[in-house]
Amino acid sequence: MESGEKGRRRLCRILGVVAVLLLVVILALVLGLTLGQKAPTFKATFIAKCKAFNASMVHEDDCEKLWGVFEQAYVGRDPCEVPMEAYDPLIAAVPFKLECKRMMFWSKSKDVVHEFTKKGDCFLTLENTLLGSVLDGLTWCGKKGSSETFTTSCPGWDDCVNNPVRSFWNRVSAAFADAACGDVSAMLNGSIATPFNPTSVFASIEVKRFKYPRVKSLNVVLVTQANSVTNCTNASLKDLQKELDQGITYNCKEVSEARLEECSSNKTIPCGACW
Ligand SMILES: *[C@@H]1O[C@H](CO)[C@@H](O)[C@H](O)[C@H]1NC(C)=O
Ligand SMILES: *[C@@H]1O[C@H](CO)[C@@H](O)[C@H](O)[C@H]1NC(C)=O
Ligand SMILES: *[C@@H]1O[C@H](CO)[C@@H](O)[C@H](O)[C@H]1NC(C)=O
Ligand SMILES: *[C@@H]1O[C@H](CO)[C@@H](O)[C@H](O)[C@H]1NC(C)=O
Ligand SMILES: *[C@@H]1O[C@H](CO)[C@@H](O)[C@H](O)[C@H]1NC(C)=O
Repeated sequence: MESGEKGRRRLCRILGVVAVLLLVVILALVLGLTLGQKAPTFKATFIAKCKAFNASMVHEDDCEKLWGVFEQAYVGRDPCEVPMEAYDPLIAAVPFKLECKRMMFWSKSKDVVHEFTKKGDCFLTLENTLLGSVLDGLTWCGKKGSSETFTTSCPGWDDCVNNPVRSFWNRVSAAFADAACGDVSAMLNGSIATPFNPTSVFASIEVKRFKYPRVKSLNVVLVTQANSVTNCTNASLKDLQKELDQGITYNCKEVSEARLEECSSNKTIPCGACW
């Protein structure tokens, strides 16, 4: 026969066990939540942006495979010793399928050009292609003796020439320009003294790759503001004309930023009718 004392002690023991179990569960939950809230890894971001690009075009496995090819370019390497060529296998894995007449290059006009291409469904920039859209805005690098991807303490654009981000954009820009065909457009900035800057990716990489007769014309859209300092007569744009492969027709048109914004927001203005 159990005494009341014994029963109470057993109850206490059971309550004690339950309390410990509860504590463990809470601890696990808190830990799980904090771990779960950690910023997504670079790889997870890459895969998510890849899948989001075009679900019907990019099979899930394709994104994983692409990641594997991508990281080979810089993982385990000194982040100042990644040349453009390191991305050759990646470029080979994702050939550009582009429509002539729609290709849009840009320099120092990023926000305006993307606002324009987003709404218009008319022109296509590098950032509207799979690789460009996945890596736009991201920073990454590897480290000697490590198989990881780092997103902090990576060299900046100008810290060293052969850094993973700069080499990627140089390589993918070269491929985009190699694929250029037909009537090509370029949005340049009329608010700066030198809209065609020799150190820009557009001048140093892209323009050199436009080849006649595949590329028929280059149409510069010089974006102006009320206080713009440059117009189509600027000497740097004469340099651009000289750089072009013989046979390619050159045009330049000054278009106000306000007009571009109007075209971006007004769907009744048809593609190509903004300037
Ligand atoms: C996605 O890819 C498919 C197949 O290549 C294509 O038909 C479709 O137009 C694409 N959609 C978008 C939004 O780009
Ligand atoms: C042109 O450059 C100026 C100065 O950097 C900037 O404020 C302006 O937004 C740029 N214009 C376009 C169209 O991006
Ligand atoms: C272009 O700018 C120059 C000064 O940089 C000015 O002399 C010229 O009149 C301008 N041309 C036009 C068509 O606005
Ligand atoms: C036109 O371009 C040249 C460089 O080719 C530059 O030095 C000059 O300042 C520009 N002109 C104007 C009016 O901004
Ligand atoms: C859109 O553009 C059309 C054609 O240029 C014009 O008639 C219309 O007023 C514009 N709509 C708005 C809301 O700006």
